[in-house]
Parts: sequence; C-alpha cells; structure tokens
Amino acid sequence: MQCATCTGPVNIAVIKYWGKRNEKLILPLNSSVSVTLHQNELRTKTTIAACPNFTNDQIWLNGVEEDINNSRLQAVISAVKRRARKRKSDGETNPRLNWKLHIVSENNFPTAAGLASSAAGYGCLVYTLAKFTHFKGELSDIARQGSGSACRSIYGGFVTWDKGTNEDGSDSKARQIAPHTHWPELSVLILVVSDQTKHTSSTAGMQTTVETSELLKQRLSGLQTKEDQMTDAIMNKDFKTFAEITMKESNQLHAVCLDTYPPISYMTDTSHQIIRLVHQYNNINEDVKVSYTFDAGPNACLFMLDSEIPRFFSLVKHFFLPENGHSTVQGLPITEQTLHT
Ligand code: PMV
Repeated sequence: MQCATCTGPVNIAVIKYWGKRNEKLILPLNSSVSVTLHQNELRTKTTIAACPNFTNDQIWLNGVEEDINNSRLQAVISAVKRRARKRKSDGETNPRLNWKLHIVSENNFPTAAGLASSAAGYGCLVYTLAKFTHFKGELSDIARQGSGSACRSIYGGFVTWDKGTNEDGSDSKARQIAPHTHWPELSVLILVVSDQTKHTSSTAGMQTTVETSELLKQRLSGLQTKEDQMTDAIMNKDFKTFAEITMKESNQLHAVCLDTYPPISYMTDTSHQIIRLVHQYNNINEDVKVSYTFDAGPNACLFMLDSEIPRFFSLVKHFFLPENGHSTVQGLPITEQTLHT
C-alpha cells in the first residue's frame, strides 16, 4: 500500500469573498485577500492510501464516512489526476493514477463553524493528492473548485485570490503577496464562541445574497480600491490601516448578509460583545491596537501585534473566561487559541 500524509492550514480573509459569478467552477464576483495561519494550531491532516486491491474510492472526514460522489470532491480528484496524467505525456505511466483511493481527513478545530475548515480541508486534499500522484504545478485553481477560499490556503503568508476574467476560470487563482516572515509580529487570537455547525452554509448564503441583496452591488463597486489599500497596508506593515479595513470588511460582509432576503445572521450576542470590547479597547488606547473579523459564523478572529496579546488577552479572560474556562456571558462558552501568522 502506498500512502501520503500532509497537513494544511486555515486562512482568514481580510478582504472577503462573498458571491459567485459561476457556481459550478466557483468563480467569485470579487478578488479577496487573506492571511494564512501557522499549521501548528488550526489545521487539517489528510492521508491518502491506495493499492491495486482497493475496489472503491472512499473518504472519511473526522472519522465519519462521507459521500465520495459529492460533485466538488469529484471535481478536485479528477482535476489533479488529469493534470498529473498530462505531465506524464512522455509515455511513462504512473500506476497510482489508476488505483482507488482511501482518503482520511481530520481537523483539529471545529468543522463548518465559520473557521475556514473547508479552506484547510480542500487545500490539504488537493496538496496531498498532488504529492501522492507526484504532480508538481499549479494547485490553487483546483482547490478553488472544492471550496473557493481553499485556493488561498495553498500559499502561506499574505495571499490574494485574483477573481480572474476568463470564463473557464483558468485565471481565477491565488498568489502570495508576501511570505509570513514579512510581518512576523502580526498575530491572531481566535475566540471560539460556538463550535456548532453553521445554520446556513456559505454556498447557500452567497447564492441568496447574490439573488436578493441590493447592498451587494454597492459593496462590489468599492472593493477594488479597498483591496489595493489592504495590499499597500500589508506591504508597508501599516497595522492601523490593515486593522481598520479588516473590521470594516467584516462589518460589511455581515451587513450584506442581513440585507439578504430572508436575512442571514451569523453573529451572536457574544460576537457583538467582542466587537464592542475591541472598539472600547482601541478608544481607551487612542489608537487602533486590535481588530476583529468574522466569517460565516460567530467565532472571532482578532488581529493584533504580538506585544499587545498579554494586555488584551487579560481583558478577554476578565470578561469572557472566568476561572473555570467558560464564559458566563449569555451562557456561551468561549475557548481561546493564540496563533501566529
Ligand atoms: O470558501 P467558502 O465557500 O467556505 O466561503 C468562504 C466565505 C468567507 O469565509 C465568509 C469569506 C472568505 O473569503 O473566506
């Protein structure tokens, strides 16, 4: 039996992707920008095993068998195999390309709770498939066909996903704008407000937003400028601009979700309390020291420079994490993870 095992990181979007122009190929309406986290905290681990005796492809996610015929899984598996075959056009054949695959994937953090589990999951799956089939080449456009945001998890550091203009999606892929070593002081504190699966998947949510939100049109018209400002802020390590755009982007994403009909509400009272705490902290410091961002779920990703963590985290503990490690606020437990980008 032959095996390959890889781990894959999550990425946190600071310019959000929300809305597709092509559902099947997963082509976005706008470009997005993200920060990929170190793999030692939040990550997916995927093992692919195969041998000539396996009779079916099978996949287990967090110990539970999932439907391998899922169209997105099929799209990425066949795309990697196709590319690997093409590379072998010199006549050499790779027997692994014809074997049935057993795929085991595990996340060490809540799945489908708005913490980019599908980004880490599909990014890691595509990467592991490439390792297994000995394919070296572009992978982000393949990962995109599993879950849009997964294309950004193929790269570390600071990443942009160019929406592209080609109808076949060939130019809709991610690229690194700066490695993680560019801004090592930038840290992320993740507050897990809820580990429950989100009530509305991002796929369903985006689709309804595109169909019904007036505000989305307004959002899209201003995004290119915001994306350029965000890229400059990252390149100049300008935390204040980075933090302000990140917070406004998160607020706009959730405003667009509320403008969707019927409305989608991912944040909870605890999420809003975290937002208030961040603004009060910044006001008291008369500077922007901490910023928040929320994806399709109530969990907070807080960016700050690492020098700020001890002081800010003592406040989080005071308000949300009493002695027993559980918050009394709204009866919702919050757990914390400190991560470096
Ligand atoms: O890639 P998906 O379908 O899980 O969508 C991700 C959507 C957001 O996380 C809300 C934003 C983003 O850019 O990651």
